[in-house]
Amino acid sequence: MKTKFYVTTPIYYVNDVPHLGHAYTSTACDVMARFKRLDGYDVFFLTGTDEHGQKVEKAAARKGVAPQEFTDEVSSAFREMARSMGISNDDFIRTTEVRHKAACSELWKRLMERGEIYLGSYSGWYAVRDEAFYDESELTERDGKKIAPSGAEVEWVVEPSYFFRLSNWGDKLLEFYEKNPDFIGPTSRRNEVMSFVKSGLKDLSVSRTSFTWGIPVPGDAKHVMYVWVDALTNYLTATGWPDNQAPRAEFWPASLHMVGKDIVRFHAVYWPALLMAAGLPTPKRVFAHGWWTIEGEKMSKSLGNVVAPGDLVARYGLDAVRYFLLREVPFGQDGDFSRRALISRMNNELANDLGNLAQRTLSLVARHCEGRLPVRGVLTPEDSELLAAAEALPVKMRPLIDRQGFSEALEEVWKVIRAANAYIDHQAPWSLRKTDVVRMATVLRVLTGTLRWVATVLQPVMPGSMAKMLDQLGVPENARDFAALGAPLPDGTVLPAPQGVFPRYVDDAA
Ligand code: MSP
Repeated sequence: MKTKFYVTTPIYYVNDVPHLGHAYTSTACDVMARFKRLDGYDVFFLTGTDEHGQKVEKAAARKGVAPQEFTDEVSSAFREMARSMGISNDDFIRTTEVRHKAACSELWKRLMERGEIYLGSYSGWYAVRDEAFYDESELTERDGKKIAPSGAEVEWVVEPSYFFRLSNWGDKLLEFYEKNPDFIGPTSRRNEVMSFVKSGLKDLSVSRTSFTWGIPVPGDAKHVMYVWVDALTNYLTATGWPDNQAPRAEFWPASLHMVGKDIVRFHAVYWPALLMAAGLPTPKRVFAHGWWTIEGEKMSKSLGNVVAPGDLVARYGLDAVRYFLLREVPFGQDGDFSRRALISRMNNELANDLGNLAQRTLSLVARHCEGRLPVRGVLTPEDSELLAAAEALPVKMRPLIDRQGFSEALEEVWKVIRAANAYIDHQAPWSLRKTDVVRMATVLRVLTGTLRWVATVLQPVMPGSMAKMLDQLGVPENARDFAALGAPLPDGTVLPAPQGVFPRYVDDAA
């Protein structure tokens, strides 16, 4: 039986239209999902929308529509974003669905039964924008207003509330982090989370009474569940929980929750505590990525610099955008999005390094080998060295991808591409044509072989372009996973006419 791999994106708030930040998280998860599928895992990839809470209720009111109508519309914009980014999710969850309400109610009941939730009264600071409670000590003042560390304005809230006994779970969480050093990545976030937990946890307010757009608390419908308890539960809902016979039940616990750094506390503190308190298994890993600025500035509606993923894709092409997002910044760190940097990577790395290598190789095969895969003769040490480097790629990439080291994994591939470019220049198959056709055939076959490994391992990042490249290399569709790499294609396989996969981008604004 195949090993299971369950990866999730955060579910996106529907108070906003999809932008580059959302596309980034989803693309990174998509690369994880595609890589694991090619590597023989049984993958479940989930994304969706977070539709309850005060923030969404207010956004709907501003538009003058009912919250459900509002969320239906924005949720479909997120579905469209997934489509335009080539996201291969297996399910799309909405927190307004019946299946989700049922899972949340069940989780709540279990926590109640175990004495983990009690009724009290909350008075304290709340930031609607973050849907988060803050301690007085965390706040600063600006223009006479209290501001949370995230920059969001807070308001004083006094209301009856149910509480989760989070304060009981601090030591167990610390023990859990110690035992599972890979639970939080990158390490800087792990340290941050551990020092937050060490500083002492207070019970968490988990219901609200001052608005109604949420899942009612079982047995006390004056309250709706705190939107983060509702939202986090989506990851369980999608596996069919609490039905342990559901077709996807075996995917729990999740292999990886990918999140932005702003929401690591919810995923790495509250979520495992809630699960442990309910007697349920905890996810294996939470990875927090960094944030993008746009041409050096924070992305914001008021600055008018919000980048719509669909526009970028229309202009630069899907795979170039996907490649750029994962290549430009070491995953986990913040990065800056600039068109100039994107164009430079497109032209240097995609069009020149990889595109030209494929085009040069394949057009020589078309012209001088009758468009058929040439026969490989005796290998020289240079040939063997290049092939060995290409064949080592899956082994090198696996541990990097498992730690979400996307840019490092791509760097490994580019080392091979650069070596192949040096090899083609040095071997000069175009000259061998006149002096030694047997050697020319070997060189070209070493190159097509190298390209096959390269294109195969790059499929998770650039699925469309690599499918085209594999077509041109004569690789049948059922021989494109990692396991198939071991079997060479038959000599003489007829190749289609080569066509450039990555055109150079000419900047009309330049
Ligand atoms: N609804 C919650 C998540 C609930 S998960 C149980 C939420 N939604 S969000 O839509 O505000 O953000 C979703 C993700 O988008 C976050 O992980 C966030 O980090 C990411 N990004 C939003 N803006 C971003 C950038 N400018 N750059 C990179 N990613 C950022 O939080």
